Amino acid sequence: MKILGIETSCDETSAAVLSNGSVCSNIVSSQLCHTSFGGVVPELASREHERLIVSIVDNALSEANITKNDLDVIAATAGPGLIGAVMVGLCFGQAMAYALDIPFVPVNHIEAHIFSAFIQENSLNHAPEGDFISLTVSGGHTLLSHVHKDFTYEVIGRTLDDAAGEAFDKTGKMLGLPYPAGPVIDRLAKNGDPSFHEFPRALTAHSQTSKNYRGNSDFSFSGLKTSVLTYLKKQSPEFIQKHLPDIAASVQRAIVSVLVEKTVSAALAGNVKAISIAGGVSANSALRTSMKHACEQHGIAFHVPNTEYATDNAAMIATLAGLLLSHDMVPRNRYNIAPFASFAAGRRKASLT
Ligand code: KG4
Ligand code: ZN
Repeated sequence: MKILGIETSCDETSAAVLSNGSVCSNIVSSQLCHTSFGGVVPELASREHERLIVSIVDNALSEANITKNDLDVIAATAGPGLIGAVMVGLCFGQAMAYALDIPFVPVNHIEAHIFSAFIQENSLNHAPEGDFISLTVSGGHTLLSHVHKDFTYEVIGRTLDDAAGEAFDKTGKMLGLPYPAGPVIDRLAKNGDPSFHEFPRALTAHSQTSKNYRGNSDFSFSGLKTSVLTYLKKQSPEFIQKHLPDIAASVQRAIVSVLVEKTVSAALAGNVKAISIAGGVSANSALRTSMKHACEQHGIAFHVPNTEYATDNAAMIATLAGLLLSHDMVPRNRYNIAPFASFAAGRRKASLT
């Protein structure tokens, strides 16, 4: 079965071809037009997707050595995301499927991240075999989910305020770093001292005495943001410049240690033997190393997609569509799907709790 996946929910225009579950091509074009604005400008994102969608889809087909007539299914992100941006890929995908008279599958972008451990390359499959805890950390979401082997899942924790990616991007902005700051902090931190300054870690056992501790799997990063702002206000520009790698490493440690602690605790509490991380922040090298180490310590299997599949990409959209089709979990042959703005609005019925 050949599936074309399309992803346009934010600032990456992407198309991928899957043949019998294995990725044959995954073309990702990251929009550079937002850099000077310090964040994604929705109107510019939609226009850029519109400009690129035809050539990106053509590239994905030709890299996979097929033509559109070889396709069996088309899948596209239906949300959540910037509505105008989502609509470009969603309308394009539905129109193309309608014209080719093949099924169309709408995909929830966050669910696609959750299941990105199932992305296969060269028929190699490193997916969890049983239940797993998924940490999905992107620019807009921070979710802990318990995924069952029948592809249903429950969300067991989420951020109460900022997403982990936002925590990287917003503290990075305070440090004068370009958007998105996550990868820049990751790079800078490699030459910094993570114990240079202790930033707060909300809702963790670490802060158990705090009245905010809820002993559950939720996250909070807004306090970290305030704490970084207050800290920077007290320092001279020369000091900040000199210690940029140390401050970046300290901020990164505060975010990563919370993510690792909460994810491992959830796995231990639920007696789940595997953890998977996904979403743009899962490209973070410190998160990958710390989570791997913590999993080894507790005898938990660790699954993480290649960095190419951590940030937004269409291979994950096509992969989830393939999984859902093979388990009869999605409607087919519908070309009237509207975009949705929130993760909850697009959750699969089978997974609602
Ligand atoms: O999943 P994604 O590509 O797009 C969304 O759906 O949001 O995630 C983007 C987020 C941004 O906040 C970006 O700063 C963060 O992922 N990110 C990173 C790294 N690479 C991307 N954060 C920390 N370290 C990285 N290496
Ligand atoms: Zn994403």
